[in-house]
This record gives sequence, structure tokens and C-alpha cells, in this order.
Amino acid sequence: MVDHPYAQAILTSLRDRRISQIEFRKGLVRLGRVLGLEMVREFDVEECEVETPLGVKARGVRIRDLDKVTIVTVLRAAWPLTEGLVKIFYNAKQGVIVARRVEEKGMRDYEFDIEIAYVKLPEITQDTTVILTDVMVATGSTVRVALRELVQHGRARKYFLASVIVTPIALSKIRREVEELGIDLTVYTVAIDPDINDRGYIVPGLGDAGDRAFGS
Ligand code: URA
Repeated sequence: MVDHPYAQAILTSLRDRRISQIEFRKGLVRLGRVLGLEMVREFDVEECEVETPLGVKARGVRIRDLDKVTIVTVLRAAWPLTEGLVKIFYNAKQGVIVARRVEEKGMRDYEFDIEIAYVKLPEITQDTTVILTDVMVATGSTVRVALRELVQHGRARKYFLASVIVTPIALSKIRREVEELGIDLTVYTVAIDPDINDRGYIVPGLGDAGDRAFGS
């Protein structure tokens, strides 16, 4: 969990029902940046040397494999989160997954039926790092289906999940899925909220992130 005060303050404003659509969307973009910066800690760095304009050498570091990142957005709420991540992973390739809950079947045992409506992904190879973005991970059903879809497309070296709020139920489901698929995944989130209501919303949560970000 990213407990940086900057991230926590943005999350607090996102939870506030009074903020505008623009403030909400911009808040998600800012959190995308923060999550990206935290993820970079897991990348290998190599020492290097550069010559400064003063003609002297300065020692420094380069981050390895930043150019081998693919960001896969679960539309539509995660779009602004991805926008923030792209500021950090500026060479990233991008893919999208459009998934929707089959609402009419309702929620049974904290499990929604998920229908994948559209998938478009770049090539994923053994040296790719995949960042899957999904703002609100309530039941974990969408993430499970998305991970299966991703693995079918090609196995990556490493997977990250970038989210704003997850629930304990979702985390344990994702853990099981990760074990089954045999992949290496780290979840980055700004909060773990305790409950899900009978309509599948995280409580206390921040409401419908897609509607709030896009004004619909
Ligand atoms: N999607 C949302 O936008 N909000 C939730 O609380 C759960 C899923």
C-alpha cells in the first residue's frame, strides 16, 4: 500500500463527494504518477557515468528496462490513472481491456460474471513488464479475468496491478489466481477498504469512479 502523505491526501479528496469531475480526473492522474514512481523502486538500476557541461565526470544511475513496459488499461475508469503512469513510463506500449460486469446476474459470493467486450494488446514477451490498471478492485473478478486474458496473449517477466482502492476479498482472490497462473504480480494500491455493498461498490470507497471521472 502506498502510504505516502501526498497519495493519501489525494485519495481523501477523491473520496469527497463534493469535488468536481475535473478535480476527480486530475486526482487519478496524480495518483498514477505516484504509483508509477513507487513501482520504479522494483526495477534494477545500473551505475553509470556522464560528463557534465563543466567537463567533469559525475557518477549516477540508469534504470534498466523502463522501455520494456506495457500498460494495459481496464476501461474506462483507469484511463486517467494510466495517463499518470505514462508520465513515468514514457516509453510504454499500451493495451486496453474492456470488461463489464454482467449486472443482471447480480453478485454471488462476492463474484461477478465478467464479460470481456474488447481486447487490444501489444506483443508481450518474456522480458516485458506489464502494468494492469484498474481503479477500484472490489471483488477482484475483473482483474482475474484480465490476468487470464493477458497470460493467454504471452507471458511477461513481471506484472504490476495499479489501483486506487482494493478490498481484502479481492486481494485474496487475486493471490489465488496469481498462484494458479504461476505469474509474478505485485499490487500497488493507495487504500484497502473493508467492505463491498450489495451493488458491488467498495465501502467507504469513492463511488463510481468512471462516472465521476468522465461526468456521466
Ligand atoms: N467500480 C467503481 O467505480 N466503484 C466501486 O466502488 C467498485 C467498482
